[in-house]
Amino acid sequence: MSTTNSTNVPDQYAVFGNPIAHSKSPLLHKAFAKQCGQHLSYGAILAPFDQFEATLKTFIEHGGRGANVTLPFKLEAYSLCSILTPRAQAAGAVNTLWFEHGQIFGDNTDGCGLIRDIVNNAGFALKDKRVLLCGAGGAARGAVLPLLECQPAELIIANRSMDKAQELLIEFQNHGTLTAVPFEQLQGPFDIIINATSASISAQRPAIPDSAIKTDTLAYDMMYAAQPTPFMQHAAQLGAITRDGWGMLVEQAAEAFFMWRGVRPVTKELLIRENLPAG
Ligand code: ATR
Repeated sequence: MSTTNSTNVPDQYAVFGNPIAHSKSPLLHKAFAKQCGQHLSYGAILAPFDQFEATLKTFIEHGGRGANVTLPFKLEAYSLCSILTPRAQAAGAVNTLWFEHGQIFGDNTDGCGLIRDIVNNAGFALKDKRVLLCGAGGAARGAVLPLLECQPAELIIANRSMDKAQELLIEFQNHGTLTAVPFEQLQGPFDIIINATSASISAQRPAIPDSAIKTDTLAYDMMYAAQPTPFMQHAAQLGAITRDGWGMLVEQAAEAFFMWRGVRPVTKELLIRENLPAG
């Protein structure tokens, strides 16, 4: 969506979540706006757990043009949209909204951000590779179709509870070579392992057998933190190349910015997180 603004009032955007104080989205979008010469403001809005819809509607009534949505509201945001992009439909969740003609449009840029970070930034091809996706929650769901579109030789989903992995399998099995396997039955090694579980939040790691990792495996954690996550630390000990989800965060934000403004920011500088300007 391309926008123009003939007034001096900046177009308003914001990220909604709970908690939200930690979010880097305002700084990223302000940096993109400066780089691209776009006249916009971008805030962070804490929505009470049971009042996401009301908080969002107030923002729209006050002239909000678009929003990002983070945990725990991505599913609720999906249900509020009148028009969804195909990738939002596939993910079953949205992280990007815009408001036009009284309607709420929803997109999901997380999967696109993941692929761009792996392929363009980390320089790992996915085509014809053995790829392991750990987890079967919202983060994993959003990654399945974008990964299959890259035509890996195999995409294997491993999850603690197999019923959730089976659900993803049933939903996406017609889109490529997809299997669901319990962690203990994984037959390695893999070229790329993506941790889409929330284990890192509780300083844990999924029970991936060591045989899944070889010296040039890319061990990618969708989470990012000041220190390498337990998943990354363990994979590094086994010789893997590790990467956290900072680049994915930057790329999903750039894609959202592009959807809103019709201009694609250059992300290279912000991939080094120390380059993010202070608030
Ligand atoms: P998100 O939206 O971040 O994906 P979610 O939908 O709650 O969050 O899903 C969390 C995922 O992390 C699930 O796949 C969960 O596994 P289960 O379905 O078996 O519960 C996974 N997970 C969380 N903690 C984990 C751990 N310590 N080890 C392995 N998997 C874990």
